[in-house]
Amino acid sequence: MNDRIAVYPGSYDPLTNGHIDIIQRGLKIFDKIIVAALKNPAKTYLFTLEERLEIMKETFGKNKRIEIDYFEGLLVNYLKKRNVKTVVRGLRAISDFEIEFQMALMNRQINQEIETIFLVPSVSYSFVSSRLVKEVYLLGGEIRSMVPDIVDQKLKGKYGNHGIVTAQELSE
Ligand code: PNS
Repeated sequence: MNDRIAVYPGSYDPLTNGHIDIIQRGLKIFDKIIVAALKNPAKTYLFTLEERLEIMKETFGKNKRIEIDYFEGLLVNYLKKRNVKTVVRGLRAISDFEIEFQMALMNRQINQEIETIFLVPSVSYSFVSSRLVKEVYLLGGEIRSMVPDIVDQKLKGKYGNHGIVTAQELSE
């Protein structure tokens, strides 16, 4: 097991500045962070896996200490495959705690060797989530301060400058 490497798993639909903040903090602790996007065929994403990976490669491509990858199925199986035992997750608020605590204990239940480390983002990002970023953009709001430029560009590419959709379309 490599103790100097951590996996930061997530949906990354899309990557936000909050994720970037956590990765930067993670790099103060670990030599390398593997940012692993979940490929879940049962889930509907706004961005395809290829687009989510492209956004991350574009954002971090030059940093040799950040690897972009994806996984399918159980996170613990992916960790085993990568020979890594540490998971990094961000904790924004108490509301995140319950589900994160449950996931950390479930992962440990499946594999006793897995440890989860929680990092707290800057307060400037404590309210930022991929879900809300999508919602605000699709309803015509401004999200440029919350995501890397490429996400803003890709959203505009998909939906036009302010692709306002109805709340009904958003929930579909
Ligand atoms: O960005 P998200 O959606 O909060 O990330 C959630 C993620 C991808 C970390 C979580 O859903 C996950 O690890 N899924 C893989 C399936 C799995 O291992 N489930 C059992 C342990 S909780």
